[in-house]
Amino acid sequence: MTKQDSQSEHIRLRILTLLESRPGDYFSGEEIGKALGVSRSAVWKQINRLRRSGYRIHSAPNKGYCIEKQENVYNDLEITKRLKTKACVIFLEKTDSTNNTVKALAQEGCEQGTVAVALEQTAGKGRLGRYWKSSKGKGIWLSYCLRPSFSVAELGLVTLAGACAVCRLLKEEGFDAGIKWPNDILIGGKKVCGILTETGFEETRVEYVVVGIGLNVFQDTEDFGPELKDFATSLRLEKDKDYDMASLASALIDYLYEYISLLEKGEGEKIIECWKSYSKTLGKTIYTTVGSRKEWVTALDIRRDGALIVKREDGTVTPIISGEIWLGQDG
Ligand code: BTN
Repeated sequence: MTKQDSQSEHIRLRILTLLESRPGDYFSGEEIGKALGVSRSAVWKQINRLRRSGYRIHSAPNKGYCIEKQENVYNDLEITKRLKTKACVIFLEKTDSTNNTVKALAQEGCEQGTVAVALEQTAGKGRLGRYWKSSKGKGIWLSYCLRPSFSVAELGLVTLAGACAVCRLLKEEGFDAGIKWPNDILIGGKKVCGILTETGFEETRVEYVVVGIGLNVFQDTEDFGPELKDFATSLRLEKDKDYDMASLASALIDYLYEYISLLEKGEGEKIIECWKSYSKTLGKTIYTTVGSRKEWVTALDIRRDGALIVKREDGTVTPIISGEIWLGQDG
């Protein structure tokens, strides 16, 4: 986002705040301009941009502008105005994958804290090369850009930080959510959220990390299709209420920022502690596939690089770096 873009976003936010302070009441262009220290034509320009973002703003000769009260508007301004931390939110009606969007922005030099949020993804990416279904308005599809100041050895903690942020959000929403290693978020044994972290290297230096989060919100069972319907869930399926997407997305960004800040302060062990407190994996019997080796093991611990430490049936202890696990009867 250029300096000019961020200035005009700031003006839009202030116009919005002013109009929303008295929905249904008219404010003249002159009055708004004076309050914000900008010209009437600048007000008019930003009002039109607000309309294009979905706000119902009426205008009447000699009266000015008035906004209708609207619920659940989901766009960059609604997310930004709820944020407690700093982020630059780019909202897209449609993109192939927000991870791809942020990767491209990172390669052009965007700052840490740039977040792409999409209403719909046409080629959402899951772990292990899988497709992530991201239908229009059904979930939170967002990616956060990081410019790591911490060491490469700590990179594994980024995904764990993402999982902690999601669990904290879900806990605040009243869910008993937990993490299945490495980064599946489950409610009642079904997957409600997945995290895909991608790293860009410049020779041996980490240039950027993209943390992509897909949180299912409004899907019905049929939306998941026959192969996933028994294993996936959404917030709406778990608790039927009217979720506000902008509030969910902004809280998620804030929590992500907080956990990433721990990493930057060298307090990675707090992320490990947090991950363990939400874990549905540690201490459980799990089925693993690593390459062609398939076996039942016991999950013992999580390592700082994100590897899962397991105990085999023959008593040997070994790390699993990546792959897939399934929880056993005790999971
Ligand atoms: C998984 O397989 O569990 C990871 C799923 C990650 C999906 C999210 S949606 C937002 C971001 N953009 C993508 O293309 N993928 C991630």
